[in-house]
Amino acid sequence: MLPAEVTIVEVGPRDGLQNEPGVVPTDVKVGFIDRLARTGLPVVEATSFVSPKWVPQLADAAEVLAGIDPVAGVRYPVLVPNEKGLDRALEAGVEEIAVFAAASEAFSERNLGRGIDASLEMFAPVIHRAKADGLRVRGYVSMVCGCPYQGDVPVDDVRAVTTALLELGCDEISLGDTIGVGTPGQVHGLVEALAEDADLDRLAVHLHDTYGQGLANCFAAFDAGVHIADTSAGGLGGCPYAKGATGNLATEDLVYALEGSGVRTGVDLEALIDTTAWMADRLGQEPRSGVARAVLAKRAD
Ligand code: HMG
Ligand code: MG
Repeated sequence: MLPAEVTIVEVGPRDGLQNEPGVVPTDVKVGFIDRLARTGLPVVEATSFVSPKWVPQLADAAEVLAGIDPVAGVRYPVLVPNEKGLDRALEAGVEEIAVFAAASEAFSERNLGRGIDASLEMFAPVIHRAKADGLRVRGYVSMVCGCPYQGDVPVDDVRAVTTALLELGCDEISLGDTIGVGTPGQVHGLVEALAEDADLDRLAVHLHDTYGQGLANCFAAFDAGVHIADTSAGGLGGCPYAKGATGNLATEDLVYALEGSGVRTGVDLEALIDTTAWMADRLGQEPRSGVARAVLAKRAD
């Protein structure tokens, strides 16, 4: 059964722009975030306070946050890997952060330069200090459906990292199919297994669309009781340290599918497609999502 309402976490400005080959100018990032926040999206993940040596695309995180014109009630989380990142984020005035662990040792080493246990040790003081400061904390678990370096990822490994992040104090866990290899049956089974220990209200899905399964996988997660999903406008996205990872499920594809099925998202689809088209122009690309392409073709008629 579908939920009555779904909370969409827009990750395009972070997951999308971290993966662009070029560095997008700060004012374009700000324009993208401000437009997204005015479509009715409740959460817009804005940027990352990670090492600028590793992700130069988001080196202007503080300038981006200083430039946006926040919409009341919209949340603007940022990725924070360590205390150095937390210090920078707090200085920029953020109210919500996200740490990012992995269910695969091999990817944890590549993405964070340390294994899973060492990454949790790095996150512990970040989460502790953030919660003490009244921030909301999200925890990502990457490679929940498979890993390009390790292959299969056992459900018990996903469960262990999910539980550890919740015990450290994360408010919500986002389950990342980072390379988009999962299938609806697999995602359904994964959510069912995790729901044995974790509260379904605190689980989100973050499904890359590499194999074209993103939308089907998302609906499988909804059927299993999840009602929070991460997507990116225009299907931008990927992870620089995950071989083969392409874009996230496109926000407009999910909004179209949900609203057409009678599920509320609060998002104005036309305004969202305007934003996707605006950003695609800035990037010199065609929008990748089926819904954006179809609506833009119809408008041009
Ligand atoms: P480290 O342990 O300090 O080691 O950071 P390092 O060798 O990587 O550090 C390199 C330099 O960066 C050092 O400076 C650090 O001080 C500095 P130097 O001594 O050379 O002058 N540094 C920082 N500078 C500013 N802010 C910081 C920061 N941290 C270190 N926060 C760490 C290890 C993992 C933090 C670092 O390597 C890093 O930030 N890596 C980037 C990881 C990343 O952003 N990955 C992509 C996002 S995850 C993702 O996309 C998946 C997701 O979408 C979910 C899914 O799809 O599954 C979330
Ligand atoms: Mg991602």
